[in-house]
Amino acid sequence: MTDLTDDSQYLVGRNFRETARLNGQHFAINLHLGYGLHPSVPIHDGMKIADIGTGTGVWILELADKYPTVVFEGYDVSSAAFPPRHVWGENVSFAELDALQQVPDEMKGQYDVVHMRLLCSFVRGNDPSKLVNMAKSLLKEGGYLQWEESIRDPSLLQVQSAIDFERMYEKAWQALNLQFDWPEHLPEILATHGFDVLHARCSGLNRAAAWLWTPVYLQSCAGVLAELRQVGFDTPAEEIEEALHRIYVDAQQGNVFGWRFSSVLARMR
Ligand SMILES: C[S@@+](CC[C@H](N)C(=O)[O-])C[C@H]1O[C@@H](n2cnc3c(N)ncnc32)[C@H](O)[C@@H]1O
Repeated sequence: MTDLTDDSQYLVGRNFRETARLNGQHFAINLHLGYGLHPSVPIHDGMKIADIGTGTGVWILELADKYPTVVFEGYDVSSAAFPPRHVWGENVSFAELDALQQVPDEMKGQYDVVHMRLLCSFVRGNDPSKLVNMAKSLLKEGGYLQWEESIRDPSLLQVQSAIDFERMYEKAWQALNLQFDWPEHLPEILATHGFDVLHARCSGLNRAAAWLWTPVYLQSCAGVLAELRQVGFDTPAEEIEEALHRIYVDAQQGNVFGWRFSSVLARMR
């Protein structure tokens, strides 16, 4: 039986549905934040930006055209969702890298900016230290870390079907040893790891962004629960599908998106 609590396991699978989900999520986040790269990050020719856990690389693809003299490198433990080479552009590359392992010596201290977003699905035990140390080892002195995570917050839910579903979903997170409180403390965590925190915001998504994210979020619930069947969660697929569809319909009555969003920009001392 697959051990989904193992760090090497990724919860939602990699296929065109997951690619569409990550890309949809990206645009909802941009709508919420109003930027891709934080406007306080100074841009100069030849600077290097690494996006860790890049997924489909959508964050890079959007920025690479905007900043053609900046070098963008996307890394992920799996290359399965990387965009095809013919869309990379000259200032873009992608490669495999496990963010929970030591980074290769030739990458150490090479980057002006490290970006990480929505990596909470593989942070176990409520402790992101491995990721923080990995980012530190990549950054040049004075380099910037831009990090965005979502924080589970069922108190935002306004509709009963979503509240009921989240109670069931909670059990899945517990079984996987995944907690989502650490992103709320990300600014303090970074400060104790030698960063100056320049910007920190943690809030519910604005209304339009929460709505745009909702259908892709429901899709990810179906994906996670399907993977969980491998570890003995036996709720029939049709039952889950029906519950998610009900939430989507009930979303007409109120918010069904139970996540806040945390964004931090920090600079290495
Ligand atoms: C929710 S997706 C976020 C993708 C992207 N950052 C975004 O915001 O669109 C999480 C990503 O983390 C990657 N991942 C999982 N475990 C990893 C690891 N140990 N090292 C690097 N990436 C990992 C997954 O393959 C997936 O692409």
